Amino acid sequence: MTIEDVFTLIKGDMDKVNSLIQTSLYSEVVLINQISQYIINSGGKRLRPILVLLSANAFASQKAALKANDSAHDITLAAVIEFIHTATLLHDDVVDESELRRGKDTANELFGNAASVLVGDFLYSRAFEMMVGVGSMKVMEILSHSTNTIAEGEVLQLLNCNDASTTEARYLEVIHFKTAKLFESACQLGAVIMEQDDAIEQAMANYGMHLGTAFQLIDDVLDYSASSEEMGKNVGDDLAEGKPTLPLIYAMAHGSATEATLIREAIEQGGLDEIEAITQTIETTGALDYTREIARKEADLAIEQLQTIPDSQYKEAMISLANFSVDRSY
Ligand code: IPE
Ligand code: IPE
Ligand code: MG
Ligand code: MG
Repeated sequence: MTIEDVFTLIKGDMDKVNSLIQTSLYSEVVLINQISQYIINSGGKRLRPILVLLSANAFASQKAALKANDSAHDITLAAVIEFIHTATLLHDDVVDESELRRGKDTANELFGNAASVLVGDFLYSRAFEMMVGVGSMKVMEILSHSTNTIAEGEVLQLLNCNDASTTEARYLEVIHFKTAKLFESACQLGAVIMEQDDAIEQAMANYGMHLGTAFQLIDDVLDYSASSEEMGKNVGDDLAEGKPTLPLIYAMAHGSATEATLIREAIEQGGLDEIEAITQTIETTGALDYTREIARKEADLAIEQLQTIPDSQYKEAMISLANFSVDRSY
């Protein structure tokens, strides 16, 4: 199944998610509407809400029963997850001083840092208002913990920034927190609202965690290798910031002494002055291939988790998404 097939499979539900997103964005405060509409309507792959829907749909027999009971919790939670994700992006672009997102100027570039942070807060809190409507303490527990973990991840990453002694283990901890956790929650929630047993719920959570890890590893590869047009973000943002991602950590450990010093200084000082030489070292040391390999292993672990869930086209779609996380160029 291709990624386009996945989008087609879930389109009916996704249309409902998108209209719920639109109605839920409304605020009497004009600037909130303006900024939130701007970022939400800039597009984005909508991977996290798709995962909520796929996960819920994978347990179809229960879904039929619950739908008959007039429940659309999967639609609500898909929108909630996209709001939380979008809030993190608004905040992340301020912290990272990024200028391009989803192929357009970032909100901070266009409206300023203060407005971006505050509208990020609006999206977070709107997401919490919406999730209360699901009426499940377990759902609240998962999403509040997830949001808290993302914040921890971003702060942990702040501590690693400009620190050239950051190890692969510390890097992996950051990406589990800042990125994989929300993927984990998205997938787990589908099983929770379909009232699956603990083993299935855990398998879905693990699937999401491994997929999210692969996804961020490749995001960090793309920061050195993609085209800005295709990715919709500026290439080189991580180096500009002095962010020690795995490609840099690996290249520093496997390059010559001179190359290692160059990378160390770039991490410590940030900036793009040496991007050509550093990209060269990343190439010659095989740092991108190494990072892709780890991502591939994570995607395989994700797929392995799906063994215990019933076969369906939704499961096929989840396998396809795990592969997409590794093979993607945007
Ligand atoms: C960007 O996520 C942030 C990361 C975790 C790398 P996506 O690449 O899913 O962003 P959109 O929603 O498609 O723009
Ligand atoms: C994304 O980290 C994680 C969150 C937004 C929480 P990055 O900083 O690597 O993501 P991009 O590259 O800006 O999308
Ligand atoms: Mg960023
Ligand atoms: Mg990035």
